[in-house]
Amino acid sequence: MANVIIVGAQWGDEGKGKVVDIYTEHAQEVVRYQGGNNAGHTLVVGNEKTVLHLIPSGILHQGKRCIIGNGVVLDPAVFLREIENLKKKGYLQDDRQLVVDSNVHIIMPYHKAIDIARESNSGQRKIGTTGRGIGPTYEDKIGRRGIRLIDLIKPEVFARKLEEVLPEKNFLLEKFLGCEPLSREQIIEEYSGYGRQMAQYMGNASVLINQSIAAGHHILFEGAQGSMLDVDHGTYPYVTSSSTIAGGACTGSGLGPRFIDAVIGISKAYATRVGEGPFPTELNDEMGERLRRIGQEFGATTGRPRRTGWFDAVALREAVRTNGLTGLAITKLDVLNELETIKICTAYAYRGERLHDFPRDIEVLNECTPIFEDEPGWQSDICGATQFSQLPKQAAAYIERLEEVAGCPIVMVSVGPRRDQTIQLANPFT
Ligand code: IMP
Repeated sequence: MANVIIVGAQWGDEGKGKVVDIYTEHAQEVVRYQGGNNAGHTLVVGNEKTVLHLIPSGILHQGKRCIIGNGVVLDPAVFLREIENLKKKGYLQDDRQLVVDSNVHIIMPYHKAIDIARESNSGQRKIGTTGRGIGPTYEDKIGRRGIRLIDLIKPEVFARKLEEVLPEKNFLLEKFLGCEPLSREQIIEEYSGYGRQMAQYMGNASVLINQSIAAGHHILFEGAQGSMLDVDHGTYPYVTSSSTIAGGACTGSGLGPRFIDAVIGISKAYATRVGEGPFPTELNDEMGERLRRIGQEFGATTGRPRRTGWFDAVALREAVRTNGLTGLAITKLDVLNELETIKICTAYAYRGERLHDFPRDIEVLNECTPIFEDEPGWQSDICGATQFSQLPKQAAAYIERLEEVAGCPIVMVSVGPRRDQTIQLANPFT
């Protein structure tokens, strides 16, 4: 038995969906444990593309159970739409394949309205959120004002909780953020309907996961976003509002840490970021544009162009440490195919000092400049490689150098979007 956590080791969008999809072969259950529909996984099976925001990508595999843990914040309309689309494509024929923990917090219309209004009122200080209401929902969870799935399905409880919270939200929306107040009746009608449709998926993730482990199943925990967006360990305040690092898998699903056998971090062979916030290796030039074009770096959730830059080993070492990574999967190596020279940032320069560790003070970080190492490019197409030995020597050397500077063994290299365009060096499930 092996229980494996997959996390993004950068600022999100590392290509986790594909890696999760591949590892799902070895697992009986796939669990999502944090975030919400701010995430977006694009999956390519055969020639068919599926974008999932909430439901674990394991749903594309028959017979695998997908669990949404208590740590997730859930927009019911998005959830139900995803189910409908999956069913239309022939997936999720058995509803028992999908379980949502009763304690997930529901993203309410006021959370979305507050998120969007705050961002548009913040000017220079905006975070660049996805506008999905993620931050305000987590605020209410921690502030003990949240509405959970278990509340939503009980009409009297839902009405009472909404009654308690809505006047404050409407006050904030109207008097401070300059928005229209929301109607209690409309929310009750719409959301009670969602509650009725969702009740059949409700369960206890912690019980199910622990039972599965006792039965000797393998479980895959699918992280969303990336380590550098973690609310505690990321580039605060330019972060998302959940624990994106591996520790979040335990709190977000009700599993004790002693059951985790491996933690695999996913990183692109270069770097990207969406939204505002520090990005030391960012390329604001023709090369950045080239990476964006070749790598098709546009958000799966918002369609925003992603900021692009070189591989940042300082940030990656932070992810290796905070997650306790046992392995690293490098994605989109093929995007670098045409380049003559590729740069790796191995340290930062700060006022004449060389920094090896990622600085905690954002003001220090803003003053840091990357110290680069030049690596020769391979200038050939590697999309067909399925073995490490099939890579041109420069590509193999680049991967080996990434492993050295990151201080973590590389277990997988992805050379294209399809499942078969993958080099597996070690299997964390065995
Ligand atoms: P929020 O999660 O919508 O509150 O956004 C906070 C920050 O996290 C913003 O910079 C977003 O662009 C970023 N973010 C949230 N989800 C993702 C993701 O799945 N990939 C990349 N960035 C994300």
